[in-house]
Amino acid sequence: MNKVVLITGGSSGIGKSIGEFLHKKGYIVYGTSRNPEKVVNSIFPLLALDVRNAASIHSAVAKVIEISGRLDVVINNAGVGITGPLEEIPMEEIKNNFETNFFGPIEVMKAVLPQMREQKSGLIINITSIAAYMGLPYRSVYSASKGALELITEGLRMEVKQFGIEITNVAPGDFATNIAAGRFHAPVIKGSAYEKVYGETLATMNEHVDAGSNPNEMAEAIYKIMQTKKPNVHYKVGVFMQKFSIVLKRALPDKMYEKMLMNHYKL
Ligand SMILES: NC(=O)c1ccc[n+]([C@@H]2O[C@H](COP(=O)([O-])OP(=O)(O)OC[C@H]3O[C@@H](n4cnc5c(N)ncnc54)[C@H](OP(=O)(O)O)[C@@H]3O)[C@@H](O)[C@H]2O)c1
Repeated sequence: MNKVVLITGGSSGIGKSIGEFLHKKGYIVYGTSRNPEKVVNSIFPLLALDVRNAASIHSAVAKVIEISGRLDVVINNAGVGITGPLEEIPMEEIKNNFETNFFGPIEVMKAVLPQMREQKSGLIINITSIAAYMGLPYRSVYSASKGALELITEGLRMEVKQFGIEITNVAPGDFATNIAAGRFHAPVIKGSAYEKVYGETLATMNEHVDAGSNPNEMAEAIYKIMQTKKPNVHYKVGVFMQKFSIVLKRALPDKMYEKMLMNHYKL
């Protein structure tokens, strides 16, 4: 029997790559988009879903179950970036980021868990970020929303193991996708105390994404995890230095690690 997979945010970048890879491997894949009618080149079906709208989540999940009768793997991939000096990011945008990166994925899990409990099986993969492991300058909100999702996963895992359901986090490093174009950038304000440093850091951050790895690497990693009987709590996918930065955080004294990050971002 071919397994049924739902990927939130299957219209571009990592979600699209995962969907195409799994579709070619014979899985029954459903992706989602806020505007599926605008996506012309998807090789798997896209359902309408906005993770900030609970009704749209429940309706998409119900549709998959109605068509396929089951739901084996859910990939909580939809997410957005946000940059800026915390002092200058509008509160509304901070909340908006948490709606998409944190509350949305929780609503998706709430929507699929009843079906998975009934089946006595299921795998949920939450796409977080290597940025979730450390508070990054001018990306502190993104680090926080993804870090919060990492912790929810840790706790929920232990609650649902009894039902045969597995949950895991996959933290990508930099991948070349549309994320930089789609993220909320607090504007570099002329005359602001942060103008020079934030302006330069923003340029460096965008270069990192543009020079990022091919998202197919994420698709291969996800496929491998799906073949694992008992997945780990956390996975990291990226180039060596990005993954190693997490090891360093654990090994170094806090201030030494902070200094290293500040040197990296030329602060
Ligand atoms: N690229 C990286 O370097 C990187 C690094 C670490 C983590 N990540 C994480 O990886 C995931 C995928 O990002 P990506 O790099 O592939 O970015 P992307 O190319 O911008 O794709 C983002 C996807 O999320 C969907 N999406 C955005 N807001 C949504 C909402 N409110 N409701 C439902 N879907 C929404 C978009 O679909 P529509 O616009 O069609 O609705 C799109 O399919 C995100 O969670 C991101 O935070 C990426």
